[in-house]
Amino acid sequence: MEPLKIALLGGGTVGSAFYSLVLERREDLAAMGFVPRFLGVLVRDKAKPRPIPEALLRTEPFDLLEADVVVEAMGGVEAPLGLVLPALEAGIPLITANKALLAEAWARLKPFAEEGLIYHEASVMAGTPALSFLETLRGSQLLELHGILNGTTLYILQEMERGRTYEEALREAQRLGYAEADPSLDVKGIDAAHKLTLLARLLLDPDFPLSQVEARGIEGLTLEALRAAEARGEKVRLVASLYGEGGRWRARVAPVALPQDHPLARARGNALLARTAPLGEVLVIGPGAGGGATASGLLADLLRFLSGAPGHLPASRKKAPPSEGAPFPEVE
Ligand SMILES: NC(=O)c1ccc[n+]([C@@H]2O[C@H](COP(=O)([O-])OP(=O)(O)OC[C@H]3O[C@@H](n4cnc5c(N)ncnc54)[C@H](OP(=O)(O)O)[C@@H]3O)[C@@H](O)[C@H]2O)c1
Repeated sequence: MEPLKIALLGGGTVGSAFYSLVLERREDLAAMGFVPRFLGVLVRDKAKPRPIPEALLRTEPFDLLEADVVVEAMGGVEAPLGLVLPALEAGIPLITANKALLAEAWARLKPFAEEGLIYHEASVMAGTPALSFLETLRGSQLLELHGILNGTTLYILQEMERGRTYEEALREAQRLGYAEADPSLDVKGIDAAHKLTLLARLLLDPDFPLSQVEARGIEGLTLEALRAAEARGEKVRLVASLYGEGGRWRARVAPVALPQDHPLARARGNALLARTAPLGEVLVIGPGAGGGATASGLLADLLRFLSGAPGHLPASRKKAPPSEGAPFPEVE
C-alpha cells in the first residue's frame, strides 16, 4: 500500500463533503493500492463546525509541495491561484471544482492543463458528467450545444413559475442556501458563462476567451414575461449555448423560451444537450450543485488520476464553426 498525500484547500460545503467521501470510499482506494492521508485542510476559521478533525485544519497556507495531489475547493481566483501555481510548477496535479479560477486565470493555467495536470470534472455540473461527456463527443463534430448550467437560476425560475416574483424567489433561494448573499455571479449569468467557457475550451478552441461569451442573466425577468411564455406553451430557462453564426462560433448565456416539452425545459436538474455529427443528439441531466454531488466529481477525478489517466485536456486545435445553428429565442 502506498500513502496518497492529499492537500485540501477549502473545507466548506464541497471540501467537507470531499473529505468525508474519501474516508467513506477508503476501500476503493485501497483496492487500487492507496491509503489516503490528508496533509492539511486550508480554511479561514477553525471554529466553524465541520466534519474534519481540528488537527488537520490550517488557517495559514501550508507546504503543498509535500502532496501527491492538491484538491482545491476554496473558490475565488487570486487566492487559490497563488497557492496552486507553485504546486503545478513542481508537477503536482490539481483537482478543482472552481470554474471561476479556470475561466479567469486560464493564461496561467493552460500550460499545466495541456500537460494533463488539471482535473476539473466537478467545475461544471458537479459530479454529473459534463467534461467526460464532451470528451467522448470528440469522436464527432459539434454542431451546437445548449446547457442549463446554473442551479440557482433554475430554482428561481421554477419558483417564479409557481407565482413568486423574482425578488421573492431570490430571497427564498438565499434562505435555503442555494444562492449566495451576493447572488451576482449566478443571476447575472456569469457562473454559467464561466462554465460555458470551460466547455468551449475542451471542444472548440483551447484559447477560447471568457470575453467571447455574451452573458445576460435573469435579473430583469418579470412574472408577466414568464406567464406570456406559458401562454405560448413555453418555459423560460437560462441557457448557455454554443452555435455557429455568421461564420464564427457564438457563445451566449441568456434567458430563452423553450417549448414546454423540450428536454431542457423538462429537466429538473442541470442539463447539457449536444447536437453532433455523425453521433446525433445526446443529452445528460443531473445534479449540478451540492456538497455530495460536487465531491462525487472530485472523487471521480481522484480515481482518474490514480488510474494513470491525464487531466482534462483542452481541444487540440481551434475547430471551424458549423453552418448557422438554431438558438432558442431570447426572452426580454
Ligand atoms: N457548493 C456547490 O454546490 C458547488 C458546486 C460546484 C462547484 N463548487 C465550487 O467549489 C468551490 C467551493 O465551494 P463551496 O460551496 O464549498 O464554498 P464554501 O462553502 O464557501 O467553502 C469555501 C472554503 O474555503 C475556505 N476559504 C475560502 N477562502 C479562503 C482563504 N482565502 N483562505 C483560507 N481558506 C479559505 C473557507 O474557509 P471557512 O470554512 O473557514 O470559511 C471554506 O472552508 C467554489 O469554487 C465553487 O464554485 C461549488
